[in-house]
Amino acid sequence: MLLLASPVFVLGFVSWAGMAIALGLTGLTYVAAVRWMSPLDSARPATRTMASSESLESVYLQSDDPIEQSGFHGGRERWVAERSPIIEAIHRAGDFLDVGCANGLLAADVVDWAADRGFELTPHGIDLGPRLTELARERMPEYARNFRVADAWSWHPDRQWTFVYSLLDLSPEELVCEWIGRLFSWVEPGGRLIVGSYGSKSRGEPPVDVASVFAHCGLEVTGSSFGGEGSITRFAWANKE
Ligand SMILES: C[S@@+](CC[C@H](N)C(=O)[O-])C[C@H]1O[C@@H](n2cnc3c(N)ncnc32)[C@H](O)[C@@H]1O
Repeated sequence: MLLLASPVFVLGFVSWAGMAIALGLTGLTYVAAVRWMSPLDSARPATRTMASSESLESVYLQSDDPIEQSGFHGGRERWVAERSPIIEAIHRAGDFLDVGCANGLLAADVVDWAADRGFELTPHGIDLGPRLTELARERMPEYARNFRVADAWSWHPDRQWTFVYSLLDLSPEELVCEWIGRLFSWVEPGGRLIVGSYGSKSRGEPPVDVASVFAHCGLEVTGSSFGGEGSITRFAWANKE
């Protein structure tokens, strides 16, 4: 996944993955590092992400390819190999919220993959980018009203969802437990929080061990999965009682 030109990910993903590589850390040792590293950026995420959202959106929209408009540069086959293991977290029908949905491709695919397993999902999404959000609405016109422009760090939804999905990268590492707690609060009772981390083959960056981060933040891990060559993507999920 190529996110090099994205300020969000230069600040977020690179700091995450770069820290893991530089220190040769995975799993629990990585979590220990989270505790000991000093904050890399003291700016509040909402300020930072809003400031960079326009340029991120422009980068994604340089291409007409829906996969590239979701920030992935590897073609459909690799997209499916790296993203579809998220489906192991879907254990029932309900509402699926993608926080940072870009053009809605992942949400649309998750709905299809869940249907193949007999679970009917209704897609929802938020993103910082208005043009990306509009593409998500066009992709799923029957659910257009479920997609909105919002900053996950300042958004206060008045409802909850069966499944809430997002990436670790949308948070600086020093706020990761706040991020996970925030997402978890949007999950309805009986639902699941699912969080992913995408490594980069081209930059030789592994994904973060999401399950260990959950444990670090005091969240009981219900399950995890990984995908792609060299397990370049990781997902973990936690049930809400
Ligand atoms: C790599 S894309 C993820 C697309 C899709 N969810 C997936 O996993 O393939 C990350 C998206 O997160 C959005 N994003 C970043 N920070 C955000 C925030 N604070 N609130 C809402 N969306 C955000 C970006 O605009 C971008 O479209």
